[in-house]
Amino acid sequence: MELIDVITVDGPAGAGKSVTTRSLATRLGVEYLNTGAMYRAIALQTIRLGLSLEDADALERVARESTLESRQGRTFLNGEDVTDAVRSQEISQAVRYPANAPSVRAILVERQRRIGLERPVVTEGRDQGTVVFPDARCKFYLTASPEERARRRLGELRSRRENAPFEVVLEQILARDKSDMEREIGPLREPKDAIRVESDGKSIEEVVSEMERVARERLAFLQ
Ligand code: DC
Repeated sequence: MELIDVITVDGPAGAGKSVTTRSLATRLGVEYLNTGAMYRAIALQTIRLGLSLEDADALERVARESTLESRQGRTFLNGEDVTDAVRSQEISQAVRYPANAPSVRAILVERQRRIGLERPVVTEGRDQGTVVFPDARCKFYLTASPEERARRRLGELRSRRENAPFEVVLEQILARDKSDMEREIGPLREPKDAIRVESDGKSIEEVVSEMERVARERLAFLQ
């Protein structure tokens, strides 16, 4: 199997994937792809069009007819920058519908592959090292305890002036883990050949430095 110059970062919600992956991409000078934002954008567009999230055909149509672009770490839906809009609590709750729809996954997986084959990327999600880029040269599995992840999610919500009790956020994290791991297509799994990075008690800086060292060792064009 020919390996490709892609770095994948998978892991559960709130493990710190976005912040570390974005920073890693900047340090390495490669494109950053946030695949969770793509699923979130489909949820956002479905709601905006007044369609039912439970209607698999509607979700598929929305995925097919929407243009999704990733530029400098930001996500554009039909040309509009929705990077911040897709992070709301409402979309965090709604995203499981497109994420669990096999036809939506097929469309987005195909688009992610195309992006990864065009140029070197650091891509984050749940299935990047297992389904989308099984032949990536460098794979990470980034994780942290549920409590640590809930604390981080709460911090993120507060910075957006949203609030929720800790127990509720923790419960949502555990529910999302279950939904992510039990999905039939593209479930969250630790790739066998991934390097596991546990981020409990570590600064972002420490985590990114650990990942950068490995990535530079593995990818010849970064040396
Ligand atoms: O990483 P995130 O919280 O933005 O992801 C949002 C949701 O999208 C999450 O519940 C799982 C799903 N997802 C997915 O199924 N596959 C991916 N490659 C990325 C995210």
